[in-house]
Amino acid sequence: MARKFKENLSVLSVVDWNRRLFDSLIPLPDGTSYNAYFIEASEKNVLIDTAEPELAQVFFEKLKGIEKIDYIVSLHAEQDHSGLIPEVLAKYPNAKLICSPKAKDILSEHLPIAEEKFITVEDGEEISLGNKTLKFIHFPWVHWPETMLAYLKEDKLMFTCDFLGSHLATTDLFVTDECLVYEAAKRYFAEIMLPFKNIINKNFPKLDEYEIDIVAPSHGPMYDKPKFIIDAYKDWLSDTPKNVVIIPYISMHGSVEKMVNHLITALENRGVKAYKFDLSVTDIGKLAITLVDAATIVIGTPTVLGEAHPVVSYATLLANALKPKAKYASVIASYAWGGKAIEKIAGMIPNIKAEIIEPIYVKGVPKEADLKAIENLAEEISIRHKKDNLSL
Ligand code: FEO
Repeated sequence: MARKFKENLSVLSVVDWNRRLFDSLIPLPDGTSYNAYFIEASEKNVLIDTAEPELAQVFFEKLKGIEKIDYIVSLHAEQDHSGLIPEVLAKYPNAKLICSPKAKDILSEHLPIAEEKFITVEDGEEISLGNKTLKFIHFPWVHWPETMLAYLKEDKLMFTCDFLGSHLATTDLFVTDECLVYEAAKRYFAEIMLPFKNIINKNFPKLDEYEIDIVAPSHGPMYDKPKFIIDAYKDWLSDTPKNVVIIPYISMHGSVEKMVNHLITALENRGVKAYKFDLSVTDIGKLAITLVDAATIVIGTPTVLGEAHPVVSYATLLANALKPKAKYASVIASYAWGGKAIEKIAGMIPNIKAEIIEPIYVKGVPKEADLKAIENLAEEISIRHKKDNLSL
């Protein structure tokens, strides 16, 4: 059954409590919700997006009672929103599919949709639904190249698909707990939007042209106070990092742990906020969240078979893929008899345009001179953060 949330507007939300991997670079700790929307206007009815094929049964339950769909709008061609388009077109044979020209290319490659079903819309194009008007805003790279938003003018409502969304499994229609949604939305931003920060920043001012009462994303609850999520995105998209050091590490026999703890204390003594992430137990999504703001990344690893620890290598490759805004990086490593852990780690972060601060490679247990080197590293980090006027 469709859930009404406004006169002539329904949200067809499917909560998938156990979903772990879809539409997320990093396994999700909880499930998510997939929202499609139904607009009933005086002349034309519209379905905004669908859901992924494995949710077909529950999705079509939501469509029960909807007799007529004139347009399906595909804001984003990824499977979790487009997968059921062929089945919806089969159920509503008079419906046409509206999408961006780029989305048509992608949808045609992935799904069996007849050419005559497509209507492509340009940036800024509007369609009349009778008593309502839908305007399409090309907003590429949130997080695929074909993405667009749709603005329902009379209701001041912006449909944003993945953009501004959160992987949060909740039956809430609107945000009720901003802290909870903030973390879920920031995690989603870190995992899939952060690599496209520059192009999102370029398009973000387009939102200023619209009076928005409701943001309706396709994951997580809707925002009836949109300023909350728009301000959060402005902060996360900022080019300026915060006075924060992130230290992901693995310690096999305690040497790296000792260095990490010494570094944390030395940074704290200098007024620099530091987070350590023991990669053997951490939720790596939380590490991604912290990467959004960190000015410095210090990677800690033991040497295993001459290389960095494989778990550290995995986390480093992931961090590199996310293209965080960190300005400085370093490595603290230990070894027993030799190896190239530092060179290997340094070679894994070409996307992170950071100045490398002299790494520290310690043989065995860190000695007094090694701990002094750690304090020097903290000092070098602190000097750079102060020079850049970084704050929290
Ligand atoms: Fe929720 Fe990028 O799909």
